[in-house]
Amino acid sequence: MAELDVQAAQQRYSSIAVLLHWVIALALAFQLALGFAMPKDESGFALYQLHKSVGITILLLTLARLAWRITNKPPRAVEGGFQGFLAKTVHTLLYVFMIGAPLTGWALVSTSEIQVPTVFWGVIPWPHLPLPQGIGETVEGLHETLAWIGVALIVLHLAGALRHQVLLKDGLLRRMAPGGKAGAAFALLAAVIVTYFATGMYVADQYLVPAMERQEAAAEADDDVAGPVEPTPAPTAEATPEAEETDTVEQAAAEEEEEEAGPPPVWTIQPGGRLGFSVSNGDNTIRGSFSEWSGDIRFDPDNPESADIRINVSLASASLGDATQDNMLQGADFFASAANPTATWRSTSVRRTGPNRYSASGTLSLKGASRPQSLTFTLSGEGLRRRVEGSASIDRNAFGIGTGESAAGLAGSVALSFAFDAVGRRP
Ligand code: HEM
Ligand code: HEM
Repeated sequence: MAELDVQAAQQRYSSIAVLLHWVIALALAFQLALGFAMPKDESGFALYQLHKSVGITILLLTLARLAWRITNKPPRAVEGGFQGFLAKTVHTLLYVFMIGAPLTGWALVSTSEIQVPTVFWGVIPWPHLPLPQGIGETVEGLHETLAWIGVALIVLHLAGALRHQVLLKDGLLRRMAPGGKAGAAFALLAAVIVTYFATGMYVADQYLVPAMERQEAAAEADDDVAGPVEPTPAPTAEATPEAEETDTVEQAAAEEEEEEAGPPPVWTIQPGGRLGFSVSNGDNTIRGSFSEWSGDIRFDPDNPESADIRINVSLASASLGDATQDNMLQGADFFASAANPTATWRSTSVRRTGPNRYSASGTLSLKGASRPQSLTFTLSGEGLRRRVEGSASIDRNAFGIGTGESAAGLAGSVALSFAFDAVGRRP
């Protein structure tokens, strides 16, 4: 049986030490749950900012706590022997964790491929540590490992505290309880546990699950574009009467006219299309889409040479699914959309490269620059009701998109994909 110092058990930590102990414990419960549950892709951007600010706060509070401990004597140890040694070791390792976790986090963002600035609580610009980029992955692994070690230490620490309270009944909990009341310590213990699980469940539900669903949907959309040509879905109700008529009458006319090749049909893009983009960023891929775009399409599938196609894209409608990042996209480093709100692509020549397969050259005007830009597309469907699916690869540097530190890890080539239904009419 361990030797207990009954007198020492009556002593208490100072109220500052108690306050710091519990504030840090609550902050750690929040921080660990947030770290584990936040999505590790770009949609977690706002959560990362929060995670960084809370982490740095924990670091500063822990330094203050250590300073207080050095200048104010803690109460004598209650227990000697092996159990006493174990308690002391766990306490020391908890301090190592409380300092090491934020330091590795700080090192991790300082050596990351995308250099995202840290602004402490959105107010104080926080410098990056001068570390070589090469150690980025090591530091990331260390940060995660330390987090798990922290969880294990907290469990051990809790088991120790409960052993004193329940088995030894020496009232040790009172030493670290506000007002010396064991009940207050139990209430705080419950608060720590609730904070951990509530944070984890909320963040997973609001951010992690939607991020995973978006990723799946984007992967499916990409498969659609790359995959075999599908039958054309039924056109929307709006388009039906006219389309029905043109389809039968005009299609017959079109077949007759094939030799003559009159002016190409004019096509109306149907609602429900998609214009997406993706770019690789180190190990992951950033995906987004434009919600507002339109087209002025004159195109005869049998005589592609006569095509005249113009596509307008509202840059402000670009979204990666995260408000903070979407704002960044509109800034000077990326689209600078305030000065040039619209990107335009205009065809110069279109040729057939296979059955229902086309390649188009044209000019892309984006962010004040105009450069040649080709794209390819396939058609499915019949007559004047078609589905168009295609892609292009855009050299973002040619248009000065992604010039700042935050784009340092982005690949130069951005993959564009589009899919939409169109209904044609003979002019
Ligand atoms: C969740 C994160 C927690 C951390 C990081 C943490 C950390 C620490 C550290 C470092 C000490 C030693 C203080 C010193 O001597 O400077 C300590 C003491 C103590 N902690 Fe915690 N703690 C946590 C949670 C808890 C919980 C949930 C309880 C209650 C069940 C608790 C109860 C105690 C008690 C009673 C002491 C005083 C031990 C003694 O008098 O020897 N702690 N804690
Ligand atoms: C006590 C402080 C901290 C704790 C307990 C903590 C805990 C965690 C945890 C549990 C994860 C998830 C690990 C994983 O599953 O991959 C994580 C990730 C992360 N933490 Fe912290 N963290 C702390 C401080 C910080 C600080 C101060 C920063 C930056 C200034 C930071 C930046 C990050 C980043 C960027 C990630 C994501 C890494 C990735 O992409 O996998 N952390 N943290």
